[in-house]
Amino acid sequence: MRLNTRKLTLVGAAIALIYLIVMYSSIIETQGSTPLKNNVIEMEKRIVSLEKQLDLQMTESSNLLKKVKEHLSKAKVEEESQQKENEIDMSALVLPVLLIACDRVTVKRCLDNLVKFRPNKDIFPIIVSQDCGHNSTYQVIKSFADSDPTISVVQQPDLSEIPLPRQKVKFRGYYKIARHYKFALNHVFKTLGHEAVIIVEDDLDISPDFFEYFLGTYPLLLKDPTLWCISAWNDNGKKEVIDQSHPELLHRTDFFPGLGWTFRRETWLDLEPTWPEAFFDDWLRNPENTHERACIRPEVSRTFTFGKIGVSKGLFYDMHLRAMQLNMDFVEFTNLDLSYLLKDNYDEALLKTVSSLPEMTADEVVNAPQEGDLPPVKVTYSNAKTYQKAAKKLGLMDDFRSGVPRTAYLGVVSCFVGGRRVYLAPSFPWSRYDPSWS
Ligand SMILES: *[C@@H]1O[C@H](CO)[C@@H](O)[C@H](O)[C@H]1NC(C)=O
Repeated sequence: MRLNTRKLTLVGAAIALIYLIVMYSSIIETQGSTPLKNNVIEMEKRIVSLEKQLDLQMTESSNLLKKVKEHLSKAKVEEESQQKENEIDMSALVLPVLLIACDRVTVKRCLDNLVKFRPNKDIFPIIVSQDCGHNSTYQVIKSFADSDPTISVVQQPDLSEIPLPRQKVKFRGYYKIARHYKFALNHVFKTLGHEAVIIVEDDLDISPDFFEYFLGTYPLLLKDPTLWCISAWNDNGKKEVIDQSHPELLHRTDFFPGLGWTFRRETWLDLEPTWPEAFFDDWLRNPENTHERACIRPEVSRTFTFGKIGVSKGLFYDMHLRAMQLNMDFVEFTNLDLSYLLKDNYDEALLKTVSSLPEMTADEVVNAPQEGDLPPVKVTYSNAKTYQKAAKKLGLMDDFRSGVPRTAYLGVVSCFVGGRRVYLAPSFPWSRYDPSWS
């Protein structure tokens, strides 16, 4: 709109100028051909009429100019108020960190890092929720809370044993965790009334730009109703399958990653009535429970789990988590344009890319000689078996939850193998995940 009015002014001015030149040259031309007296009178007449026309032109121009100025100042006011709105939102922003703790005194390591990398105490107050009633762990947390008013601790009050049938007793820990999360999230959202929360567990290390990551990506949660969470974790985050030269790169995912994540109160109020008794993370990976909305995940993880003694025991840790890469560069996410992650932009670009790429087999990708920057390719799958075979070959996690492969988005898993971007993509027209894939 603004461009158009500017153009209009320019064109108007040009027309006026041409008009003046034509008038002037016609005076010059007629000068020699008529007698002197007639000529002078004629010229006077012409000058008078020219003056009149010039006056008219001037008033018209100044009217136009007035209109343009009015329009510009209106647009400026609108833009400023828009900017102010955004600023007000962000300046009033409080994004508390909820730290879930139980009986591990190593919670100190997590708290030390949160305190060390926290750029602003007012934006990021720390709330520790402790289950399990473990006194020495509580004492560790309390020593942090006692020395800093922006760190608080609350204890999960219901320490009763959860009655379980015999075959579920071995899952007791998962029931307690789900109960604890429900208490802690109600505490943050209902008791304290926060708008959003960043959740970490007591065995997580964080990257130097952990807070910057959530600060920069949080506006996406407000803008894009098809997103419900931002996670700091890449489930396929081993250094062999990521592009470490692009720590700023982010993706959408249909698979809830957990391990350092943020979501909003309105989502909690929606989830809370049907919150499960156990295995809440897999419950969040069922698209039905999150209304088929997506999360944001990074190319390079912003968290690292150091806990070996957890509910999930040590095997998964040794086989998988230990090899995960924690980002160490500081990316200024608040200064980046992240609009490529909004659904319309992202889906169109992804589908266009995938459909246009040449195809290779997983074997060919893995065995290709690595020289410089290799062009991206796709590897296709047609069913659960061929998906798992290709994923395993590429060095990716090959499991599903509710039919969703880890890190998948619209059925596509993006990774970086053998020096190139690889899209593991369906060979068929994809419409939804098949829950029978497991
Ligand atoms: C917890 O530990 C502190 C410090 O070691 C001690 O003073 C306190 O009595 C203990 N509380 C309970 C309930 O055991």
